[in-house]
Amino acid sequence: MYQTALQAAAIGMALISFSAYAAAPVAAAEKLYQANCAVCHGAKLEGAVGPTLGEHAWIHGAPTKANLINVISKGVPDKNMPAWSPTLSAAQIAMLADYIAANANKKLAAPAAANDLLGGFKLPKGFRISVYAEGAATARSMVVSDSGVVYVGSRKAGKIYALVPRADKQSADVVTVAEGLENPIGVTLLNGALYVGEISRVIRFDNIDKRYAQKPSYDVVKVGLPTDKWHGEKVMRAGPDGKLYIPVGAPCNICDTDDTRSAKIYRMNPDGSQLEEVARGVRNTVGFDFHPSTKQLWFTDNGRDELGDNTPSCELNVVTKPNQHFGFPYCHGGVVPDPQFGKNRSCDEFEAPVAKLGPHVAPLGMTFYTGKQFPDIYRNNIFVAEHGSWNRSTKSGYTVHLITLYGNKMVSDTSFIDGFLRGDEVVGRPVDVVMQADGSLLVSDDYAGRIFRVTYDGK
Ligand code: HEC
Repeated sequence: MYQTALQAAAIGMALISFSAYAAAPVAAAEKLYQANCAVCHGAKLEGAVGPTLGEHAWIHGAPTKANLINVISKGVPDKNMPAWSPTLSAAQIAMLADYIAANANKKLAAPAAANDLLGGFKLPKGFRISVYAEGAATARSMVVSDSGVVYVGSRKAGKIYALVPRADKQSADVVTVAEGLENPIGVTLLNGALYVGEISRVIRFDNIDKRYAQKPSYDVVKVGLPTDKWHGEKVMRAGPDGKLYIPVGAPCNICDTDDTRSAKIYRMNPDGSQLEEVARGVRNTVGFDFHPSTKQLWFTDNGRDELGDNTPSCELNVVTKPNQHFGFPYCHGGVVPDPQFGKNRSCDEFEAPVAKLGPHVAPLGMTFYTGKQFPDIYRNNIFVAEHGSWNRSTKSGYTVHLITLYGNKMVSDTSFIDGFLRGDEVVGRPVDVVMQADGSLLVSDDYAGRIFRVTYDGK
């Protein structure tokens, strides 16, 4: 038998490291491992081309010393695991076997960050989540144009982004359309124009699909909305009636608002004229949508704070007729009279929510799913992004939920995407959900500035 030059070199190298570290076998084994094995099994035994050598379902039997010596010596030639005998000596292989056996039941360092991020989400069977776009700082509401460009508002960043699909349609580039705006969270499209809701005004970018990349100019549609910053950010939607819907939140945690302009939802003509009230007693809605067949306005509402961790519940509501009052500041979640403002009132006087979403979950964007990609059960039901609590002792929310309906009644409220909160670690905070033309769902995250995409390939 003869040795190739390569084998001779490997033996030489291995022998040197063996003798140099003979007094410290673990360090010697580690060095051997790094020199010969790490390239395929990972620097921390976490796995790469080859399997992790930490805790896993061992392919070649339990990780006993004898089994390990056997597989390391003979390798798995047809699976790219080299045979290490005689490249390494029997003593070296035994040392590596001890080293691997000692780590064999450890949970080892995680794989690459992106896999880690996506692998930590839980969705129903058959659904897949991926990152659609990154680098959209403080991403808030979204709207999808007919040509497939997604416009995204933002909060502190003061920017409007366009997510421009790449050739593969699985991901998008982020283009900044405008900047220096005041918390421009709300975006909606009407007649080819992008409307943006800032704190106290609404602006319009005409013909946006043709101009998004050219730092387009805008026209001011409406000024003079209240300037309060507390609950002052404004989502927007163009309604099926061709009007623009826009809320004015309560400028407080709890305060009397009936005789003010606040705690109401309004609509107006696209040119800003004829502002009129649509609903009142709405503390702070940060998401609404119109039912695909009834065309009624559905909206989320964030419950008041400082009544404790477990009350009152945040709400999902529907507007069924003019002049409805949804309870704020007198009654919360349909059943909790306000300790200060509710004394001489009854919860029965006000519209009860369709769904109580839970205390402090902070429901923001919502959308009716009308696509064909997801199973039938999803059609005309609601996805709600629950941004998550900021002041509850145990965090709640940080999820996307599916609310199923029968008529205007809730049938079920179940988790659709979990994993934005992992133990105590926040990896994202969902803000808005919109559907793409192919029925995929996009979810914006203002914590990490990401947009996720959910697709269904289960059959
Ligand atoms: C060229 C890549 C490569 C190198 C280098 C390599 N391995 Fe492997 N190893 C593999 C692959 C691939 C497998 C999985 C084989 C299979 O699927 O059966 C494997 C399997 C193993 C297993 C069995 C794992 C199990 O689950 O049963 C052990 C133990 C192992 N390798 C140890 C080592 C040691 C020790 C070294 C360094 C001396 C090393 N390997 C170097 C690719 C490699």
